[in-house]
Amino acid sequence: MLIKKIAILGGTGFVGSLLCNRLSKEGFYLKILTRNREYNREDIILLPNAELIEADVNNLNNLNECLRDCDAVINLIGILNEKSNNGDGFKLVHVELIKNLIKACKKNNIRRFIQMSALNADAKNGMSFYLKTKGQAEKLLHTNTIGMKVTSFRPSVIFGKKDSFFNRFSNLLKITPLFFPLACHKTKFAPVYVLDVIEMMINTIGDPASYDKKFNICGPKIYSLKELVAYTAKTIDKKCIIIPLNNILSFIQAKIFDFLPGKPFSTDNYLSAQIDSICKQNDLKIYDIKPTPLEDIVPSYLVKDNYDSFYSDL
Ligand SMILES: NC(=O)c1ccc[n+]([C@@H]2O[C@H](COP(=O)([O-])OP(=O)(O)OC[C@H]3O[C@@H](n4cnc5c(N)ncnc54)[C@H](OP(=O)(O)O)[C@@H]3O)[C@@H](O)[C@H]2O)c1
Repeated sequence: MLIKKIAILGGTGFVGSLLCNRLSKEGFYLKILTRNREYNREDIILLPNAELIEADVNNLNNLNECLRDCDAVINLIGILNEKSNNGDGFKLVHVELIKNLIKACKKNNIRRFIQMSALNADAKNGMSFYLKTKGQAEKLLHTNTIGMKVTSFRPSVIFGKKDSFFNRFSNLLKITPLFFPLACHKTKFAPVYVLDVIEMMINTIGDPASYDKKFNICGPKIYSLKELVAYTAKTIDKKCIIIPLNNILSFIQAKIFDFLPGKPFSTDNYLSAQIDSICKQNDLKIYDIKPTPLEDIVPSYLVKDNYDSFYSDL
């Protein structure tokens, strides 16, 4: 399958902007869809062979128009929280979008689709709206798309300079006086480096062996959430005492935080964290990608006056 022009949704985000950068270097022509072209232009606008297009991705006509002439679609759109608390926001962004994308791909005869999902995504048994709707999206793509070659990526938490995991905990720790109450502290994660994820995606684009596959991708080591937060505090040299909350207190904290602006933690996050985000088998090895230890990367962007402060993910 010859792929020259790729439509990218979510290409302005943390993973997406780095992926677009790499795809542009690889010589692909990119159509990057965004809700707000002016706001999201910074990292993207200077890329060679890339167009940043303002689009309403929930409008099928708009989507049809944007995908015209494309050979493949990469979808990275995803949310960790919704404005409401009833799942409608997740359904719109994760499921309804995929239904429209499938229609738009069929109309434009696009036969290659790469989907960014998440570890533990499960249409039937997903613990949270996030995991359930991510699973429903996978299911739609892998069962309702005869003729389309779909690959889904299911990463654990992803780290890198602009991640929302270590940066968020670092910011929270900085404003914490001494005690840091931590919900779901026992949940395990295997953080994976953003450039390892991107390397894997680049490898799969034209590889028929990746068609119809769902890849679980993880970093080299498993940590509890408490270990990751303690590591973050140590890295930014913040003295604090982490107070692990039991399951009931974690749930109560989530219920309260549902009402805070920006939802630093939510009931849905609490439910997602009821299951460890780790791989039984790390599929990075299929492409001989050696997962990067977080200790090699995280200090270089969390510590601003680090000698390595010019660190970039590229
Ligand atoms: N980061 C992680 O640790 C992690 C782990 C597992 C899975 N994932 C998945 O990987 C993907 C990329 O993650 P990321 O961290 O790069 O996300 P991100 O930085 O939040 O970027 C997501 C992009 O999606 C678009 N978007 C967000 N809400 C939208 C909405 N309501 N309607 C339409 N577009 C919307 C935004 O583009 P515009 O603002 O330009 O429209 C944004 O650039 C997501 O699907 C996420 O679920 C991430």
